[in-house]
Amino acid sequence: MESAGPSTHHIAPDVSSTHHVTPDVQSDSMTSRDYYADSYAHFGIHEEMLKDSVRTGSYRAAIINNGHLFKGKTVLDVGCGTGILSMFAAKAGASHVVGIDMSNIIDQAQKIIEANGFKDTITLVKGKLEEAELPITQFDIIISEWMGYFLLYESMLDTVLLARDKYLKSGGLIFPDTARLLFAAIEDQDYKEEKINFWDNVYGFDYSCIKDIALREPLVDTVELKAVVTDPCVIKHINLLTATKEDLTFTAPFTLKATRDDYIHAFLAWFDIVFECTHKKVKFSTGPHAQYTHWKQTVFYTPSTIAITEGQEITGQLACSPNARNNRDLDITISYSVGDEAEKEVVEYKMS
Ligand SMILES: C[S@@+](CC[C@H](N)C(=O)[O-])C[C@H]1O[C@@H](n2cnc3c(N)ncnc32)[C@H](O)[C@@H]1O
Repeated sequence: MESAGPSTHHIAPDVSSTHHVTPDVQSDSMTSRDYYADSYAHFGIHEEMLKDSVRTGSYRAAIINNGHLFKGKTVLDVGCGTGILSMFAAKAGASHVVGIDMSNIIDQAQKIIEANGFKDTITLVKGKLEEAELPITQFDIIISEWMGYFLLYESMLDTVLLARDKYLKSGGLIFPDTARLLFAAIEDQDYKEEKINFWDNVYGFDYSCIKDIALREPLVDTVELKAVVTDPCVIKHINLLTATKEDLTFTAPFTLKATRDDYIHAFLAWFDIVFECTHKKVKFSTGPHAQYTHWKQTVFYTPSTIAITEGQEITGQLACSPNARNNRDLDITISYSVGDEAEKEVVEYKMS
């Protein structure tokens, strides 16, 4: 995930494709160019993630409150960042934790782990999981915070699945183990005016060529619950114990039933996370009904406004696939029709 400010913003430029660690660059002496190449090296992005109390608090509850699952177990922390999840696991009684991260932030993680007395319980490995050699080759538990905007944008889920296949003992656990992507439609006239229709007239000039590009770029932002005009619909369910990389390319049908008479200006997506194996199920949602998270929600503006009456349905499908040139980008196509209309609208979006 990229750094997300407290207010509205578009998705930051992709830096993940250049996400390699320059071995001779130390995080204490990095320049802005180094930080651009290694977007997780700066403490700022970790500050934002750590301060997301829904995110970090849920992981803490899932791990610390389930000592019976961690006691005496070996744990692999995929993408350990500053080491927070590794330290939760050590506190929960793990016999040994291996944390791996390809970013220079791991230099700080090493200091943090030593400062907190976990030097003997936690071993950190600097490198890409796909290429690294780990000191333990079979683990009882994998922990990872891998989720991106729209769940899958710049997500490192494929890395976690690879870690599962290579390093998880049969019958082992993954924290978290379930993710669901949800979809609804919203009334959003004022903001669509500001973000999309703005391009029709810029100081009296016709900038409408940009309008089409802006419309195809999903917007990451917080949306108020009162803007939601339909019931939500689950469009993807991921069981991390069984999912394959191929499952991350999918086409899902949806039916959205209007809960009132209104106008629809956009579709909205968010995700829920569940730690199914915990004793008292720990879960959190990034939806408009839930407490703020840095993932916010994802808005897909429609080319035209849809008038809808209570009980009427919008039916369609959402197709999602990694972009062929940069697999951290997403190509998302939403096709839909309203009520009994035969005509289908098809809109292609790109998260890049
Ligand atoms: C979302 S952050 C989570 C950091 C930490 N686990 C936490 O919860 O605060 C993901 C981390 O995974 C690392 N990462 C991403 N892909 C990786 C890969 N293929 N191998 C190793 N580390 C990776 C990034 O450098 C980043 O620090």
